[in-house]
Amino acid sequence: MGKIISIAIPKGGVGKTTTAVNLSLALTKKKKRVLLIDVDPSGQCLSSFDIDKSLPQGNIFDVFNSIKKLSEVIYRTEYANLDCIPMKRSTYQNELRLSNLAEKSLNLKYEIRSLAVNYDFVFIDCPPTLTGTTANMLNISDSVLIPLKASKYSLDELGRIFKFIDEIKKTGNAGLVVEGIILTIDEPKTRISHQVKKELIRKYPTKVFNVTIPKTVKVDEASFDKTPIIIYDVDSVCSKAYLKLADEIILRNEMSDLFFKH
Ligand SMILES: Nc1ncnc2c1ncn2[C@@H]1O[C@H](COP(=O)(O)OP(=O)(O)OP(=O)(O)O)[C@@H](O)[C@H]1O
Ligand SMILES: [Mg+2]
Repeated sequence: MGKIISIAIPKGGVGKTTTAVNLSLALTKKKKRVLLIDVDPSGQCLSSFDIDKSLPQGNIFDVFNSIKKLSEVIYRTEYANLDCIPMKRSTYQNELRLSNLAEKSLNLKYEIRSLAVNYDFVFIDCPPTLTGTTANMLNISDSVLIPLKASKYSLDELGRIFKFIDEIKKTGNAGLVVEGIILTIDEPKTRISHQVKKELIRKYPTKVFNVTIPKTVKVDEASFDKTPIIIYDVDSVCSKAYLKLADEIILRNEMSDLFFKH
């Protein structure tokens, strides 16, 4: 069964969606089947794909409202092995309603698990908050991938999400683990990047990925073109980094499968 991974941190603009889209595509290039679910009311994932923006089959909001089943709102993307469950950009009221649908998470857990058999990985692109929708998603996930942008406050943010994950483990999803921490929008030559990396390796040696995602103007160029960077320019440093991240995730999961099987 595919692994269900939430991409989450209570901070906006740190590369959650960029990572969700480009890592999903990187994994398809490694012959993995991926489902990407957008639960962020800003609905950003949709803009990366050539999907009918009127979303005729419905969207994840209809699932939270019990109007549709999860399996009914899967859209094929133009990329082989990548499907997407989009979120229609929502109004503020919808956002509030969405985050109040906590009690739905149990049904969703069964639905998502039955869908996951068709994929190797299911990624959930979360909003930049912890409570409400993100909490629901962490309750139904196997692991959390944490994108972190180097800043003075990075380690505090990380502390908050680790604490929150502990709460979720205690109250409903004991098996939840941290998939890993990926440094995004990285400027490797700066002192802050160097310090944050050093501190991450000291505090979370088994959790931090070796690769970091470098900052490059090409990412914004690509999004202006409504194309994921990994398609727009596969040779850019950022695309290469997402491909390496895909390798690391595959390797880690193969190793842990081996470990648990023996
Ligand atoms: N490696 C990168 N280099 C340069 N710019 C980047 C990189 N990754 C992401 N960005 C830019 O940073 C901005 C925020 O990225 P993104 O939308 O992925 O963040 P997010 O965490 O999903 O934000 P939100 O919480 O608002 O949904 C975007 O303008 C994106 O193009
Ligand atoms: Mg986002």
